[in-house]
Amino acid sequence: MKGLFIVIDGLGGSGKTTQLALLKKRFGKNALFTHEPGGAPRAERIRNILKSGKGPKPDPLTDFFLFWAARAEHMSRGIVPALRKGKLVICDRFDSSTFAMQIRGDEQKNSEKLFWQCREHTLADNKPNLYIILDTPAALARSRRKSRRGEDRFDERKGTYQRRVRTGYLEFAKRMGTRAIVVDASMPVLEVHEKILELIQKVRS
Ligand code: TMP
Repeated sequence: MKGLFIVIDGLGGSGKTTQLALLKKRFGKNALFTHEPGGAPRAERIRNILKSGKGPKPDPLTDFFLFWAARAEHMSRGIVPALRKGKLVICDRFDSSTFAMQIRGDEQKNSEKLFWQCREHTLADNKPNLYIILDTPAALARSRRKSRRGEDRFDERKGTYQRRVRTGYLEFAKRMGTRAIVVDASMPVLEVHEKILELIQKVRS
């Protein structure tokens, strides 16, 4: 029996955390809730390196490989074993973030081919069944982030970067065809939640 793999992604401040908390209430222990970067012990160590703003600015290619390294570990230690047990896996961010942030946000067009190769090699037959992309204008996402919890080194980058990231998510969703749905996250919280539940039920049935 193979489980179901669902990704919830979008700009920081798109309401992802709120929506994931509502999904946790709904599915509880019947699902594995996980996140990226992280989700496995070594991947969490890579997360600490990635999130730290200390030291000189990292080369964008370093970030790119670290996100894929963390993901390889997360796949083999967390996601794939859960899918093999037939679990519903709900992941906060995934490779959609790498495409949006490292390829489009950081304007690393020359790594785009490598992105698709890493995707094929790392995910193989365990690609997400559905990506739910919570879409919000970059300015609204930023004001939500600021009122909430402060920003990490990716969040605090300027508006032009955030706008490229948003376009990156939309482009990624388009490339995924029916495996990705963009949800207008500027709708009221409960409406977004209902929409997400409807999408999950549809892919489960
Ligand atoms: P978060 O877990 O608080 O969302 O922090 C993760 C940060 O890492 C967030 O700013 C988004 C960023 N990120 C990328 O830049 N690329 C990726 O592939 C992933 C998964 C996250």
